[in-house]
Amino acid sequence: MAVAVITPSILSRVLDNLSDAVLLFDADFRLRYLNPSAEMLFGGSSRQLVGLPLTELIISRDPLMPVLEESLRSGHPFSKHEQAFELLNGQEITADFSVTILHEVVGRPEILFELKPMDRIMRISREETMVSQQDATRELLRGLAHEIKNPLGGLRGAAQLLEKQLQDDELKEYTRVIIDEADRLQKLVNRLLGPSGMPKLRPLNIHEVLEYVRNLTVNHEGSDILIHRDYDPSIPDIIGDSDLLIQAVLNIVNNARQALGRRGNIILRTRALRKFTIGQQQHRLVLQTQIIDDGPGVPAEIRDKIFFPMITGRAEGTGLGLSIAQRLIHQHGGLIECDSTPGKTVFSIHIPILTQG
Ligand SMILES: Nc1ncnc2c1ncn2[C@@H]1O[C@H](COP(=O)(O)OP(=O)(O)OP(=O)(O)O)[C@@H](O)[C@H]1O
Ligand SMILES: [Mg+2]
Repeated sequence: MAVAVITPSILSRVLDNLSDAVLLFDADFRLRYLNPSAEMLFGGSSRQLVGLPLTELIISRDPLMPVLEESLRSGHPFSKHEQAFELLNGQEITADFSVTILHEVVGRPEILFELKPMDRIMRISREETMVSQQDATRELLRGLAHEIKNPLGGLRGAAQLLEKQLQDDELKEYTRVIIDEADRLQKLVNRLLGPSGMPKLRPLNIHEVLEYVRNLTVNHEGSDILIHRDYDPSIPDIIGDSDLLIQAVLNIVNNARQALGRRGNIILRTRALRKFTIGQQQHRLVLQTQIIDDGPGVPAEIRDKIFFPMITGRAEGTGLGLSIAQRLIHQHGGLIECDSTPGKTVFSIHIPILTQG
């Protein structure tokens, strides 16, 4: 019978070709080794990453350290499904992971950490379906708005003419109601129809858009909301329409402000991501703009639907802001996603950066 001999070269071939990310930490939770899949996932080389503490490499929504410490103490392995993580490079992933404690014969134990990112393809196809459903709903409403626009103008005009003929002030009150309500509907219809005309595309720096929105937003009277910048100044220009992008970002920032109420923090963050997929297409370089707030979070009942038109969690909301923002970002070949829990709501806008070659 042949005896399997595992040579170091077999071992390294296996580790090099594993699709799961494998990381080995020492008992102080500092990285000792990571395989090429992990290097890809974290966007760094062994040389850059080895020695870093786990808490810097991986941020988990459910605190990870207490369970890891317990596992190290007891020696028991553990695993978890579909956990949300934020990685050192700012990337947010959902992954299954498992932890095994390796007991050395001599010396301190080590911690083997395996990460299996959830099939991104599955997420992408879900996103695609959602986006096309949102598009269909939006188009339906735009069609309806278009049909309402002309008769509404007629109604308003007729009420105005009638108002002029009336002598009795009491009767004029009725025509006022018609005119005011027609104006209110007109505004709604205009928002449903959105900006008309083709986007005016030019190379622009995203920070000029963000600074514009920031200037509009800071110094609101009676508000203690702080807006922080976390910009990557080296991000190349994108091709876009600055008015449309300002509108999209403003809609998201306004929501954050409304959710925060009188006080709280909003972070405007920019990053460049390599090899990022939007819809069906993988791009070499993508601009990620995040608007993060520490408010109460999107109400759970509407979390899956907020990009649909007419979905609102606010008494005075029309539920159009995000739907419009999504459409505008779409016109730039991009996508908006939302990840929200109480205390941390992140809206991420991804727009491809066209690179040469
Ligand atoms: N940062 C956030 N924190 C908490 N909830 C949010 C946040 N952003 C959006 N939401 C929720 O999503 C809903 C939809 O937002 P959207 O901007 O589309 O509509 P709206 O703000 O209700 O109305 P409109 O923008 O048309 O005035 C909001 O009503 C709110 O409940
Ligand atoms: Mg809004």
